[in-house]
Amino acid sequence: MSIEFSGGMADDERIVSSRQIKEDEAENSLRPKTMGEYIGQEKVKENLSVFIEAARLRGEPLDHTLLYGPPGLGKTTLANIIANEMGVSIRITSGPAIEKPGDLAALLTNLSENDILFIDEIHRLNRSVEEILYPAMEDYALDIIIGKGPSARSIRLDLPRFTLIGATTRAGQLTSPLRDRFGVMLRLELYSPEELEKIVTRSAGILGVHSRYDGALEIARRSRGTPRLANRLLRRVRDFAQVKADGMITRETADMALKALEIDALGLDNIDRRMLRSIILNYNGGPVGLETLAATIGEEAITLETAYEPYLMQIGFLNRTPRGRCVTLRAYEHLKMEPADGQQHL
Ligand code: ADE
Repeated sequence: MSIEFSGGMADDERIVSSRQIKEDEAENSLRPKTMGEYIGQEKVKENLSVFIEAARLRGEPLDHTLLYGPPGLGKTTLANIIANEMGVSIRITSGPAIEKPGDLAALLTNLSENDILFIDEIHRLNRSVEEILYPAMEDYALDIIIGKGPSARSIRLDLPRFTLIGATTRAGQLTSPLRDRFGVMLRLELYSPEELEKIVTRSAGILGVHSRYDGALEIARRSRGTPRLANRLLRRVRDFAQVKADGMITRETADMALKALEIDALGLDNIDRRMLRSIILNYNGGPVGLETLAATIGEEAITLETAYEPYLMQIGFLNRTPRGRCVTLRAYEHLKMEPADGQQHL
């Protein structure tokens, strides 16, 4: 058996990474501010609009809401839009940033009535912090222990009625007491190329770049269903269009730029192709366990699971089965490889 191994590239270093990187801070100008401007996620928008209107009519905070799904799909953007439409303020933080129970207590006590607290990567909260959240979410109360040993006593502080919006790439990793306290759970889906084309065209307009429909669609097709990536690729294609052509984003300039970046027609980069090839060459197409595969290609299992697999599964190149990961016939065709005889799962 041949083992393919490479040093492993942090997901952040890939141009096709859906995690937020430094350059994406410029993304803020591209973020839609209202539900009307937000493209795609129709089901989520429809439901949220009803919940927001109902809460407003009652003069109550929105129910605690969990947004989950792969990275780069606009969870933070959506939380900002919710605050905007509710007419309330939003405080934005993340699971790893809240180190101690006191940090969370400070955040909670500074909220005003109906405000939103947004916690990104909420699955990464530590246990002692998470326990503060339970009474806060359920009873709008903060339990504080005063003193130590036998004389310690607990006092309860009232909090303003607020909404917690949690975001996570992995709803399955949330503890059940936390998950059970969300009244609304919304799953964001990868975007279709048609939706991403609209996003690219909108962003090009904001950036003052001229783009043709087929140019925007080409970027969209190679953006792995992810707006963050579509906007990042748009900037790279703009560079090529300015330096190598007349500045107009056309199918040709998009194709030239993306070829130079080694992103193929479906948006796969070298690492995706390496992962698929490894399953084919080392494990006869699968099944192979996630941990084994991760060790073979020198990546972390969690990175494969959250950053690579969702898109490969969406385009029908990879299946998760109880016995492990399997590539599909489509993946063989895309890589121009031949399946060996007797591969049952194809
Ligand atoms: N930019 C990033 N995500 C977007 C979305 N869903 N709609 C419009 N523009 C976006």
